[in-house]
Amino acid sequence: MNISQYLTEEHRKCDSVYADVEKMVNEGEWENAEKLFKEFKEKTLLHFQKEEDILFPEFEQKTGIVMGPTQVMRMEHNQARELMERMEEALKNKNKEEFLSLGESLMILIQQHNMKEEQILYPMSDQHLDSEEMVVKMSELGEV
Ligand SMILES: [Fe+2]
Ligand SMILES: [Fe+2]
Repeated sequence: MNISQYLTEEHRKCDSVYADVEKMVNEGEWENAEKLFKEFKEKTLLHFQKEEDILFPEFEQKTGIVMGPTQVMRMEHNQARELMERMEEALKNKNKEEFLSLGESLMILIQQHNMKEEQILYPMSDQHLDSEEMVVKMSELGEV
């Protein structure tokens, strides 16, 4: 398995969990929604950690591109982290409208972010980095 396959699979898993969260919120199943959102947040944060702690530093070192795509990706991760905090708050307050509206912003941000990674950053990483070693290292952090 290469970097692209490994990390793209994690994007799909997170998307699928979020789709279920949205369904729960729409059905007013607040308790389940909260539980599932926690899982979504944990998976997403673990995925970000794999990229920020393992992939991006190696990418920067091997390609010499330091102020490029990895900086943009880190910034977008922070935007996503902030949105997830606000969504958690909205869930706690059972504020459906606020939650769904923040969720829409998050999904737009994440879809565009993931597309850039899947089309540019991951293929470049597979080209310049030791794919197998990277996948092993990222796996050591846990499973999304
Ligand atoms: Fe990312
Ligand atoms: Fe990613």
